[in-house]
Amino acid sequence: MKKLLAAAACAALLLLTACGNTISEAPLTTITPQTVTSPSETVTQTQTSAVTDTSAPASVTESETETAAQTVTGTETETQTQSVTETSKPTETAETTKKTETTEKPETTSKQTEAAKKPEETSSQTAEPILTPDDPYLTLVNKTHVLPSDFFNKLKLTTTVNYEGTTYWVETETLKHFKELKQDMAAQGITVEIISAYRSVSYQQAVWDDYESTYGLAYCKQYVAVPGYSEHHTGLAIDARLIVGGVQLYYLNGQSNGLQYYTAFHQKLAEHGFILRYLNGKDSITGYAYEPWHIRYVGVKAATEIMSRGLTLEEYLEEAEAAA
Ligand code: DAL
Ligand code: ZN
Repeated sequence: MKKLLAAAACAALLLLTACGNTISEAPLTTITPQTVTSPSETVTQTQTSAVTDTSAPASVTESETETAAQTVTGTETETQTQSVTETSKPTETAETTKKTETTEKPETTSKQTEAAKKPEETSSQTAEPILTPDDPYLTLVNKTHVLPSDFFNKLKLTTTVNYEGTTYWVETETLKHFKELKQDMAAQGITVEIISAYRSVSYQQAVWDDYESTYGLAYCKQYVAVPGYSEHHTGLAIDARLIVGGVQLYYLNGQSNGLQYYTAFHQKLAEHGFILRYLNGKDSITGYAYEPWHIRYVGVKAATEIMSRGLTLEEYLEEAEAAA
């Protein structure tokens, strides 16, 4: 269960990973690029990090249980590509740890639609329709917009393995561009790793249940989408872990051990087709608290417009709708 919950709400992952470790405030140009020394190092960091902040979801401890038992591949490896249109029983662990599990099919779209019928009770958003663009990469999934039932007729998922040996499903184009982004960041001494990507509805439910029981409904709603309404269901969203000099970065309530590295990461997103999805101060529009780790692939053109103007995807699509 720990593994299952681990990849979940990114908040927690980033909060827990490097508490107690600090990174110097040196500008990026002075960073000596270093390889993450070993997964056990990060395990140690996680295990020795006391969760003292009550807002940090303590049960989300991906690293501590996963990495110790797994081989580090060092590089991402695509293992298979497939269409997600089948009706096989979904696995709750499609995005998680065991390589053997990756051969199972991701969640079916029909189940997603069914599960998505659960209404969002406290959305601050209106249920007004927002333009559904022809471009599937601009598909909106938020507190009032469920994943379209035909979504995976258009896009395909593939798998990749992160530095901890964890396998994730990611939309194919998204993964290609993520790898380029990762390469770009590595040139700045910043290692970028996937710690969550595609999530099945049942996986999202487990995340929700854990957060709600551990931290209460109000906190849960700030960081976790109702199953069926998570952008992670698309495979276009990635939660990224940043590692500098072998130290995992965390972010918690505006505090971080490397804010400048997050900034450097955000500055590179658009040219690779990604946006920062949950912006600071735009909770009333996105429905979620600031998540500096959650990126979403939309393509370079839209990403450039969105990021250069500090828009949310909702605002961008509303403008497009108004102009149509
Ligand atoms: N953390 C985002 C909002 C999700 O659960 O999809
Ligand atoms: Zn996320």
